[in-house]
Amino acid sequence: MDGFWRSPLESGRRRLNWRWVGLAIALCISLLAVGRMGLAQQPTHVSVLIQALEGTQWASLIQEFEAQNPDIKLDVIEGPNATNLVEDLYTSSFLLGDSPYDLVYMDIVWVPKFAAAGWLMDLSDRAAQSDFSDFLTTDIDGGRYRDGLYRIPLRSDAGMLYYRTDILEQLGATPPDTFDELLEISRAAKQAGLADWGYVWQGRQYEGLAAMFVEILEGFGAFWVNPETREVGLDAPGAIAAAEFLKRTIDEGISPPGVTTYQENEALRLFQSGNTVFMRSWPYAWALSNTEDSIIKGKFGIKPMVHAPGYSSGACQGGWGFGISKSSRHPDEAWRVIEFFTSTAAQRQFILESSYVPTRRSLFTDPAIVEKFSHYPALLPVLDATVLRPPIGQYAQASDILQRYLSAAITGRSSPADAMQAAAAETRRLLGT
Ligand code: GLC
Repeated sequence: MDGFWRSPLESGRRRLNWRWVGLAIALCISLLAVGRMGLAQQPTHVSVLIQALEGTQWASLIQEFEAQNPDIKLDVIEGPNATNLVEDLYTSSFLLGDSPYDLVYMDIVWVPKFAAAGWLMDLSDRAAQSDFSDFLTTDIDGGRYRDGLYRIPLRSDAGMLYYRTDILEQLGATPPDTFDELLEISRAAKQAGLADWGYVWQGRQYEGLAAMFVEILEGFGAFWVNPETREVGLDAPGAIAAAEFLKRTIDEGISPPGVTTYQENEALRLFQSGNTVFMRSWPYAWALSNTEDSIIKGKFGIKPMVHAPGYSSGACQGGWGFGISKSSRHPDEAWRVIEFFTSTAAQRQFILESSYVPTRRSLFTDPAIVEKFSHYPALLPVLDATVLRPPIGQYAQASDILQRYLSAAITGRSSPADAMQAAAAETRRLLGT
């Protein structure tokens, strides 16, 4: 009987307990609901790794993107200022498993390797919904691999020759068309005490050396690798002459001995110091040399690269664009970032702030852009006739071989002929040809 009997107090306590339990459940449910609402308000993080230098130039675009898309937060991780070093970081992140990066901000030369390795999403279906007719064909094509589209271009690039208009005027010279004219004007400027150096370029053993060299190869009527036949042209007489030309600029004191350690920024600093007649660089250097406090402001021009008589100028096709990592858990959000950054309005703002090259044709003649950068319409024909670095899956290794042997040639560790023959043989082994 004991078990059935309860005192009034005890049953009252039990009634009280049930009420508490009910209240607690209600509280939990409302807390969960509030928590979920809170979670729903948390933005999705989309991450991307880029060169630190470019990071600062993205700041206002990111601000605008996030203001228009409060549900997305774009996390920019700043990497080293050399394309191959950033490529290495992406590569190791993919090799280690799921990459922490949703977006892959790619140099045009990485696409075949990254796509062939299966690290990128095919963007063809998403791209089919967008209109790409305004984009430069070479930039869109640079994002294709086999039947897929893996990169949407944000900015284009093409190598060109910068020259000092004031120095040429004082010498009574016109801008050079040939390698010999460039050497001749350089000698004359040095002799007249108008400049310490004739010509600066990118001579360090890194990707920029390969990019610059395809222009010299083209100017001597030579080539690196034919992507269709896999033929290697590095030991042809024109390719050896190209390496000899670079070595000669150093031997004759037209280029400083330190040029073999220069990347873009070192060359630019020397050109900006006012002591150099010519520089090979990309269009971004134009605005950086035309700032109010620049001593060469308004004293330089740009033109297509020089070439040997009978051959034509080559401008190396460069450029950067977005892919989406295969392992990204936020491809839709990543695509929204791509759509925003590559839109006409965002590209216009980016170009005005950075003097990079647009990938949309209409922006080359856009009134706001031309008002600030009057040379942009003249860039379009250069961009339409660029030379590609070989778009092959083994590009990174092929470039590494060329960089190694060319560096040996220009630093005098090997003769240009020996270096180019060895580079050709090793490239043929790599490609199995
Ligand atoms: C620029 C070009 C890129 C090239 C690099 C070499 O960033 O856009 O294509 O590989 O320079 O330094």
